[in-house]
Amino acid sequence: MAYSFLSIRREGPVEHVTLNRPDVRNAFNEDVVAELAAWAETAREDAGLRVVVFAGAGKVFSAGADAAWMARMAASSHEDNVRDARAAAAMFRAINALPCGVIGRIHGAALGGGSGLAAVCDIVVSTDTTVFGFTETKLGILPAMISPFVLPKIGVSAARELFLTGMRFDARRAKEIGLVHAVVPEALLDETVQRYVNELLSAAPTAVAAAKGLIPLVWGRRPEEVADLTAEAIAEQRVSPEGQDGLRAFLEKRKPGWQ
Ligand code: COA
Repeated sequence: MAYSFLSIRREGPVEHVTLNRPDVRNAFNEDVVAELAAWAETAREDAGLRVVVFAGAGKVFSAGADAAWMARMAASSHEDNVRDARAAAAMFRAINALPCGVIGRIHGAALGGGSGLAAVCDIVVSTDTTVFGFTETKLGILPAMISPFVLPKIGVSAARELFLTGMRFDARRAKEIGLVHAVVPEALLDETVQRYVNELLSAAPTAVAAAKGLIPLVWGRRPEEVADLTAEAIAEQRVSPEGQDGLRAFLEKRKPGWQ
């Protein structure tokens, strides 16, 4: 598919997806949402895809929701507003649920939905000068669609502070609250992202997908409640072709097939 607002670069099992609306700092409107949703659907079916790297073209990663789009929605009915918001929520859900590793390469600013996109990444690497913020309340709106993904990352306490005030915060704070995993000078951004890409590629694809799927099933539940599903998960994985290859490769001091 040809995209107008995304630029896609494929390198073997790694796909680089760059938000490409730099004039408005990669703000999302309904077209960007539709393209990201269509891309996510293709990516989900792509058995050869093992790592995705999200980035932003130009000065910043993303300024979040396009204010002009949100303002324009005043002319639409309540039903149309709900339909439009549901489409954005579905796009975040689709990216969040991708079975491969997803890395955010964040620079400049990640505000509103830009921080939301960071929250649906598995690993987030940021430059030390990036500005973050759930700035929606400053514009009179809400971080609603991104909240199911942001809350598990940053927790209720930080969300009460940051969602209510809409204040901007730095990369160090973003790391403290769990939104970001590595903060590096700009000159080390790509190298650090590449290190994570290599880490993901050296892990078994089916194990990566199963580990990613396990986290939301287990999180917040009592150990007794998840005893069966965790036992089933490891029982299945260790006898799987990749489980067997990985275990035997370690014992035989060789590389497993997926490497
Ligand atoms: N929606 C629509 N347009 C936006 C936008 C947004 N979220 N963010 C930036 N733009 C537009 C600006 O209006 C400006 O347009 P213009 O050239 O026609 O004046 C252009 O993008 C460049 O923005 P500018 O603020 O001059 O760029 P900057 O590099 O100095 O700063 C940001 C970048 C991201 C820090 C700043 O634009 C910003 O704070 N944006 C608001 C982000 C926000 O609060 N998002 C939450 C939305 S819910």
